[in-house]
Amino acid sequence: MEKIQPTIASQDIVCVETVAPPSDIVVFGASGDLAARKLYVSLFNLFEYELLSESFYLLGAGRKQLSDEQFRKFALESIRKNLGKEPTKTIETFVKKLYYISGNYDEPQFYQKIKSRLAELDQIHKVDGNHIFYLAVPPFLYSTIVEQLGAAKLSCPESGEKKKVKLVVEKPFGRDLQSAIELNNIIRKCFDESQIYRIDHYLGKETVQNILIFRFANAIFEPVWNRNFIDHIQITIAETVGVENRAGYYDKSGALRDMFQNHTLQMVSLVAMEPPASFGADSIRDEKVKLLRSIRPFEPKSLSSNIVIGQYGPGTIDGEQVPGYLDETGVSSDSKTETYVAAKLFIDNWRWQGVPFYCRTGKRLSHKDTEIAITFKKVPHSLFASVGFEDLPPNTLIMQIQPEEGISLNFQAKRPGAKISMSTLNMNFSYQTIFGVRMPEAYQRLLLDCMVGDQTLFTRYDAVEVAWKLLVPLLQQWESEAIIPYEYSAGADSFPEADALIESDDRKWRKLGEP
Ligand code: BG6
Repeated sequence: MEKIQPTIASQDIVCVETVAPPSDIVVFGASGDLAARKLYVSLFNLFEYELLSESFYLLGAGRKQLSDEQFRKFALESIRKNLGKEPTKTIETFVKKLYYISGNYDEPQFYQKIKSRLAELDQIHKVDGNHIFYLAVPPFLYSTIVEQLGAAKLSCPESGEKKKVKLVVEKPFGRDLQSAIELNNIIRKCFDESQIYRIDHYLGKETVQNILIFRFANAIFEPVWNRNFIDHIQITIAETVGVENRAGYYDKSGALRDMFQNHTLQMVSLVAMEPPASFGADSIRDEKVKLLRSIRPFEPKSLSSNIVIGQYGPGTIDGEQVPGYLDETGVSSDSKTETYVAAKLFIDNWRWQGVPFYCRTGKRLSHKDTEIAITFKKVPHSLFASVGFEDLPPNTLIMQIQPEEGISLNFQAKRPGAKISMSTLNMNFSYQTIFGVRMPEAYQRLLLDCMVGDQTLFTRYDAVEVAWKLLVPLLQQWESEAIIPYEYSAGADSFPEADALIESDDRKWRKLGEP
């Protein structure tokens, strides 16, 4: 396949980046994995780009006993480790804005201590009562912390201006419909929906956000964005990593809850939703929920022809021998947890009737590859059949989300020379090449939006609920029948049962890593 590189047609790239208003952020689980890998480095990046308010500070909260100095050292090391480049401002200046407080999450005194510390730090940093409480703790602690925040009256400022206090909740939001409803009821006793920011970090990725711009800021795509022109859509989130050091969480969760209920369905909703009335948070979120509600429920009788699960066995990734899931530390040796899900979805509305959405996500696959591939219908009749081109490949539009963010379009073109000779060209746009910038970390975007008070990229409760509802028949069947996942070798692209899901419709999965 030949490649064509586009260039930027206009230099008038409007880049509106709002600087965050004064705010602090209280991170529960401050010495944990998520905070160390994602939060501190993202906040430092915002600081480096001068997008944080001068009045920003962070209060780390956790069970571990740490002094401010020890915590700053921990944060500094984690920023350096994750940064991947030399900072332009000293990390030392940033970490001076970091403080720490220790205590037990279920003890009211801890929250009283937090309250007094915030009052004292607010005086120094002048954050004007703007607080963000970030739950970077294991999910079983969410309700305890939220209830304690409510009891200590930390969830509502004395001024009564609720929006000044925000709560950030990491996924998973519940582990099924019932637990999501219960968690939501607990949170809603203390916080309004307008204060709750449910993070799905996929929504912070540039290309995922670009889906909206691509679809609704260009006139040429929407007319063909429907069942009349699109044959099918493939959504892939393939990872090379295994369960890493998260077996405790992952083994109880699995790919369906960890990746499919949230990241995959969010991507389906963005690519398939109707145009929103405006770019406002609720207009967009209304359309996403409407779309999720139109996904055809899985029929208990035909689950096996619409969904396939797998679990990685031992294998080789990048020339390195890696253990199977059952041999990972912390995973029980008879675990039936799925590390791979492939599902065929249909959307019952006018736009998408009959267009299958094939979605797959898995760990320990051959490539890290996250993409949405839209395959258009073939030409109705080939003019070139008499010269050997009877079956022309369809056009494919690929929104590449990882490892490189970009968009590419495959189409047929004449090769120079012989009268009729053609090949597939790939018009490929890479963010990094064109804009010459390193793509911002998804958390960076989301943290900034939360400080600014923009909920567009956060999941509203009704979307969480609809997504869980869709999975009810599956989860019920798995619980009652203990379905055993098929084994695939680590480093594989796919496996026969996952292939059969799409091949039974006479289509094929795209090869992982394919442009
Ligand atoms: C997280 C999942 O939400 O997303 C992880 O819990 C997964 O299991 C991760 O590895 C993938 O994120 P990314 O941004 O690396 O694709």
